[in-house]
Amino acid sequence: MTVRPQNFGRVAVLMGGWSAEREVSLVSGAAVLAGLQERGVDAHGIDVGRDICKVLKSGNFDRAFIVLHGRGGEDGVIQGVLETLELPYTGTGVLGSALAMDKARSKRLWSGMGLPTPEYILIRGEEDLDTAGALGFPLMVKPVHEGSSIGISKVGDATALQRGWVMARQFDQEVLAERWIDGKEYTVTVLDGEALPVIRLETPHDIYDYAAKYEVDTTGYFIPSGLSEAAEAGMQELALRAFRAVGASGWGRVDIMVDDQGQPWLVEVNTVPGMTGHSLVPMAAAAAGMDFPALVWRILSATLEKKQ
Ligand SMILES: Nc1ncnc2c1ncn2[C@@H]1O[C@H](COP(=O)(O)OP(=O)(O)O)[C@@H](O)[C@H]1O
Ligand SMILES: [Mg+2]
Repeated sequence: MTVRPQNFGRVAVLMGGWSAEREVSLVSGAAVLAGLQERGVDAHGIDVGRDICKVLKSGNFDRAFIVLHGRGGEDGVIQGVLETLELPYTGTGVLGSALAMDKARSKRLWSGMGLPTPEYILIRGEEDLDTAGALGFPLMVKPVHEGSSIGISKVGDATALQRGWVMARQFDQEVLAERWIDGKEYTVTVLDGEALPVIRLETPHDIYDYAAKYEVDTTGYFIPSGLSEAAEAGMQELALRAFRAVGASGWGRVDIMVDDQGQPWLVEVNTVPGMTGHSLVPMAAAAAGMDFPALVWRILSATLEKKQ
């Protein structure tokens, strides 16, 4: 069947929201909206607030394109609202969204399946700091449910660990400390059950932090990734397994570090990754011959088949 713009009906592009990643989501959302409209889709941007149920109902929408990053939008909450309203939506469902948003539980799941992910400790209180330190410094300290590198820090000793934990705790009740991987960083886009070309990231910053992601132009993006054909295929397969393991579907991105011995380590799955003009998913799609409007069309098309 040839899909025409009218087949989608009225499309709500959900952006903004109330998470710490609100600003990024507004930029992603504006890009998605423009891409859909360029293809003739009757798409409408909605800055999501607590009145979203009412807005979706009174707006007579037929489906939703979710471009909300972080809590409330990427974690199963809005997905549950859409299920209740019987509105088809893009990407991962309730369970996969909630699991992927939770870095600790994702890691526990991967470990249980024998998939490689850096060793970690959940820091529930001051008393866990020593156990975390025993993993060996440096460590990465992360809020369990954040994105965009918010609240994340690399710590080199017990004092810094204490500070990093206090900082991360401002964003989340749950904080994890994870073994630092010395090596290279990669990301793999997943679209409709397939992995797109791998991107290697290089930043002069210690980590791919908020500034490296959105503010400075010193971040290097390498696509092709420079991996051998076999290593690239292996990384794509690992990404697909990690993605499926958390119950993710449709589209998303898997972050992977590779240490100096060439061992890959799963860092996280993003079920609603950035979609700004400079984001990684559009970059991978372009390398696969898909421009931005074609990419958003393809993501939205999955809602025609999906039974919610
Ligand atoms: N274990 C680790 N070792 C080294 N660097 C890491 C590790 N975990 C994360 N990083 C760095 O921090 C960045 C953000 O971490 P990530 O877990 O992907 O959180 P976010 O959800 O904020 O993107 C990564 O892109 C990477 O540069
Ligand atoms: Mg990440």
